[in-house]
Amino acid sequence: YRNIPSLSERYRPYFRIGAAVNAKSLNTHRDLLVTHFNSVTAENEMKWEEIHPEQDRYEFAKADALVNFAREHGMFVRGHTLVWHNQTPAAVFLDDLGQTATAAVVERRLEEHVATVLGRYHNDIGCWDVVNEAVVDAGTGFLRDSRWLQTLGDDYIAKAFRIAHQAAPDALLFYNDYNETKPDKSERIYKLVAGLLDEGVPIHGIGMQGHWMLDDPALDEIERAIDRYASLGVRLHITELDVSVYGNVHGTGGQSQEVLPYDDELAKRLAKRYRSLFSLLRARKDVIESVTFWGVADDDTWRDNFPVRGRKDWPLLFDVNHGPKQAFWSVVEF
Ligand code: G3I
Repeated sequence: YRNIPSLSERYRPYFRIGAAVNAKSLNTHRDLLVTHFNSVTAENEMKWEEIHPEQDRYEFAKADALVNFAREHGMFVRGHTLVWHNQTPAAVFLDDLGQTATAAVVERRLEEHVATVLGRYHNDIGCWDVVNEAVVDAGTGFLRDSRWLQTLGDDYIAKAFRIAHQAAPDALLFYNDYNETKPDKSERIYKLVAGLLDEGVPIHGIGMQGHWMLDDPALDEIERAIDRYASLGVRLHITELDVSVYGNVHGTGGQSQEVLPYDDELAKRLAKRYRSLFSLLRARKDVIESVTFWGVADDDTWRDNFPVRGRKDWPLLFDVNHGPKQAFWSVVEF
């Protein structure tokens, strides 16, 4: 091997470089993490169903391990995520009879969850994805019809940010979403965040998940979304970057037009795509504060079986043996 430069050192003049980490990869990918990343996000371990599985039971061990690791290595921690329609116990929204709980009960549970979790990590976690994926992908609606909306009403998002700010006044608070460059959806995200800012809600940033593909979204679509969001005066984080070699993230429902073998041709296409993405992001370092990959290396990603069932995807910069791919060299050599 030629000696491998540190990705996070290479990007120190631009923005933090992060990775989503889970309880397993915190150990199996430790070398890559300490060498190439200066920010971490818990892939699942800080989500409600994992950290607070029952009303009177919290499970902090895995989140503590991640936070301790980050502190030991001087790494920033992104908190992910408080209010989301996914991975939240159904019981949060139900009363003892299994009926839908009242807004007052759900709001009190939300306050307690946020106060407990943000209180525990207020010295360790610099920013939180307070609300994740709350606007609809397509169609004429605006907010996703989630249990949060059904029980708390459409000001649940403002409520969540105010509760989070109350619990951790120093934490930077983000709204996080995917397909965030699609014109219709980015307009909805823009409108949501602009409205919150107009109401004086404490929101400091937008998380652009960045679950992108080889050719889509086009660079100018990404740049338009960055400009639109930046015009609100908020910070931008790319929060879940990966580049699926097998097509659409939330569009083709698991079938993909092209199921190619991961050969040199595909590796080159992936490297070229990452080179162009990072060239764009570097040019926008004035508003992009951090770029987090949704995983560390190809041997442990959420993408296996998605978007193509039964197929491994190769979305990251390090291969299944933790070696640097062509895509790695394409983003460090510039
Ligand atoms: O914890 C259970 C375990 O007890 C059980 O044995 C196992 C088998 O069923 O499932 C485990 O839960 C899995 C969980 O990850 C923890 O590993 C769920 O099945 C699985 O669906 C869940 O997937 C996560 C997914 O969010 C859930 O929506 C992925 O790991 C995670 O990468 C993904 O991350 C999301 C972001 O949070 C938000 N943006 C989209 C992104 C990709 O979907």
